[in-house]
Amino acid sequence: TTVRVIGVPTDYGQDRRGVDMGPSAIRYAGLADGLADAGVEVEDAGDLLVPRAEERDPDYRSPSQGNAKFLRETEEVCTRLADEVADTIDDGELPLVLGGDHSVAIGTLGGSARDAEVGAIWFDAHGDYNTPTTSPSGNVHGMPMAAVLGYQEWADVGWANAPGLREENVVYVGLRSLDDVEREAIRDSEMTAYTMSDIDERGITEVVEAALSVASDGVDSVHVSLDLDWLDPGIAPGVGTPVRGGVTYREAHYAMERVCEADVLRSMEVVEVNPVLDDHNETAELATELVASAFGKRIL
Ligand code: ARG
Ligand code: MN
Ligand code: MN
Ligand code: MN
Repeated sequence: TTVRVIGVPTDYGQDRRGVDMGPSAIRYAGLADGLADAGVEVEDAGDLLVPRAEERDPDYRSPSQGNAKFLRETEEVCTRLADEVADTIDDGELPLVLGGDHSVAIGTLGGSARDAEVGAIWFDAHGDYNTPTTSPSGNVHGMPMAAVLGYQEWADVGWANAPGLREENVVYVGLRSLDDVEREAIRDSEMTAYTMSDIDERGITEVVEAALSVASDGVDSVHVSLDLDWLDPGIAPGVGTPVRGGVTYREAHYAMERVCEADVLRSMEVVEVNPVLDDHNETAELATELVASAFGKRIL
């Protein structure tokens, strides 16, 4: 496998500045060495050019109602990212997208699910299934899954699209913070949601097996989205929306090791690493280690 690294230094999707430095922090933490240890070839495509948020006007009303801050900028970046991801896959390589905030997933999934049927595993504390009207914050990083699945007012937003992503193949792992309307929307959907309570009850091994089998059932391959706030803030402090009670260091590694062994990976993204909020880059280092596990680094 050749992994093509694509940095997307956005922070349009959330309020706490600094997540745009994520790609740089993750590379500095030793991403290239980690991938070499995993035994894959690496090609670094650099970062997409992303205009600074200060130069733009966040107050943009979405096409219907509600609020989605920096939606024009998000469209502009995600449209380019989707093309890059689709080109990478066409070239027979595996895209690894470094965020940036989680709104970049609109682009990653848009490209990954352009010409194939795909599933997705969303390792996250959050459901990211809001719309501009249900969102309590107007932050697009809380909306990408709704956007690509065309949920409610997202249905009219043509650029936010992942034609081959099948809702029944979307699986959440580790949920512990949902907004009220979002919770109902997830319950009403065809998606599968494993919360932290499910991990408590069944253990990470069983939950990850179930997630892999649901995500890959009847599709060509699977996108993995890793939001660093999936982990407990005690070990991943450098995120903008931390939630207590996340997965442990070993649970996270185990999950990534199983993702690799299942051999279904089509694309991967690592998002929400914020060096400004971090403690000596430890969250970026953790992200780097988890990527290495997902691509095959083993203890023995
Ligand atoms: N649900 C909250 C919101 O919509 C938080 C979302 C956090 N998402 C993330 N990718 N960290 O604003
Ligand atoms: Mn999250
Ligand atoms: Mn759409
Ligand atoms: Mn997220």
